[in-house]
Amino acid sequence: MVTTEKIMKNLIDQVADIITTSKLTIALTGAGISAESGIPDFRSAEGLWSKFDPNEYASIASFMSDPEKVWLMLREMDDLVSSARPNKAHLGMSELEKLGYLHCIITQNIDNLHQSGGSKNVIEYHGNSSTLSCMWCGRRFRSDEKRNEYPPRCECGRILKPDVVFFGEAIPEKALNKSFMLASSAQALILIGTSAVVSPANTIPGITKRNGGKIIEINKEKTHLTDSITDVFLQGSAGNIVSEIVEAVKNIKRQ
Ligand code: APR
Repeated sequence: MVTTEKIMKNLIDQVADIITTSKLTIALTGAGISAESGIPDFRSAEGLWSKFDPNEYASIASFMSDPEKVWLMLREMDDLVSSARPNKAHLGMSELEKLGYLHCIITQNIDNLHQSGGSKNVIEYHGNSSTLSCMWCGRRFRSDEKRNEYPPRCECGRILKPDVVFFGEAIPEKALNKSFMLASSAQALILIGTSAVVSPANTIPGITKRNGGKIIEINKEKTHLTDSITDVFLQGSAGNIVSEIVEAVKNIKRQ
């Protein structure tokens, strides 16, 4: 009888084969990769959007009309992000980069955990919460300079905005262009912890697929991509699965 462990081991070996033969491998990560660092994702049962309606708290229009209210949600995120540490998935991804098997990570996350986990080549689609900017006078601050000041204010007196992309704001041009260029030439794309429902990040897998690249998906549950464009689906926690992939890649390298 073939056990689930055996099936998973076989899938891990398949993924390690793809990664070690691919000439250009990239990753697209979402909130699920940081869940094991204590940061809830958005759309799972206990996700952030089950507590805060994104239309009321996560659009640039809501921030402009009532920044103090939006900072109620931002403060909750800030408390979690500031105490979060990279988990096995972040560390495993930076190890793949060091081994030369991962060229770049495109992340939708704002928690800086890929960088603090050692990854060098990271494209941030939705910005980074470690800095705040004044929309009136342009001054910029590090978030930890203004920690426990809610809402944080600029020296000019205005409420500061975190350097993250709200709904209704554009993705940084450079991030878009570089990610589309990489996605079109990637021979393998590793999707980790994303429901792939938010555009334009969710167009990346289709670009790689159309150009003949292999789609590897790591998620604790199926998404709309799993039975459509995903080539290898690894169901479970990102931390465990990424660690097993790194071990399998190292075994191939040792042969
Ligand atoms: N391991 C693997 N997958 C996980 C884990 C885990 N430990 N925990 C959660 N997941 C999966 C969930 O099953 C879900 O499919 O991660 C995915 C998270 O999806 P979302 O909460 O929708 O997060 P994300 O895809 O990053 O959202 C994209 O939406 O709200 C905006 O700007 C926000 O960047 C965010 C964007």
